[in-house]
Amino acid sequence: MAGSNLGLGIDIGGSGIKGALVDLDAGVLASDRMRIETPRPATPAAVGDVVGHLVERFDWTGEVGLTLPAVITDGIARTAANIDPSWIGADVRSVLGRKVPGPVEVLNDADAAGLAEVRYGAARDATGVVLVLTFGTGIGSALFVGGRLVPNTELGHIEVGGADGEDVAAASVKERDQLSWEQWAGRVQQYLERLERFLWPDLIVVGGGVSKRADKWLPLVRHRTPVVAAQLQNAAGIVGAALAAAEDRGY
Ligand code: BGC
Repeated sequence: MAGSNLGLGIDIGGSGIKGALVDLDAGVLASDRMRIETPRPATPAAVGDVVGHLVERFDWTGEVGLTLPAVITDGIARTAANIDPSWIGADVRSVLGRKVPGPVEVLNDADAAGLAEVRYGAARDATGVVLVLTFGTGIGSALFVGGRLVPNTELGHIEVGGADGEDVAAASVKERDQLSWEQWAGRVQQYLERLERFLWPDLIVVGGGVSKRADKWLPLVRHRTPVVAAQLQNAAGIVGAALAAAEDRGY
């Protein structure tokens, strides 16, 4: 049963916009997860209409946490991956805030997933430096030091063999290049090897849709750092967004 400490999280991605009520005590969804196809082009106005519709469907008037696949500083989008480039420079808080009755908090999608894993999931008991990676259309990263988020790390874009890391090892690359689990695990290994040259985290959490099937590929990847699969899976972004809104840290 849902506790009384509820929030609403909306995870805006390149292919779907997903929302649910969140039980913030337990870190679990407290309603069905609603998913609406991301409009094309995914402009601020078009995405705003979907967000407004979702919030209305939940009959929600409180604070809303939103994620975007973008660097977000002071509520402004500074990059735009897999959404329309017209987001760059947009004041996301006010653009999306116009569509909903309550206040909004916005943060990077991987940062949101990371917050959820650190608070409720695979990194709940971790200490020191924790890196949460999300493998999806791209690769997202969330870096924590002593439980505190270092916002907007973009470690999916480190260079691997002359290419952008996410073009080598994102989950979408497995589909695009029709790679077997073994072949794709090799790509993830190349990516992690590169990352481990620069960072010495105490724990890496691997998330994104592929974390559900971590048994297929994680044992095939050699790594120096302890690596575990994410636990919140496709709820992580929603839960983390609602958490960020409730804590109002202003990422
Ligand atoms: C973007 C990040 C985002 C990640 C996952 C990357 O391409 O640069 O901001 O977190 O994809 O969506």
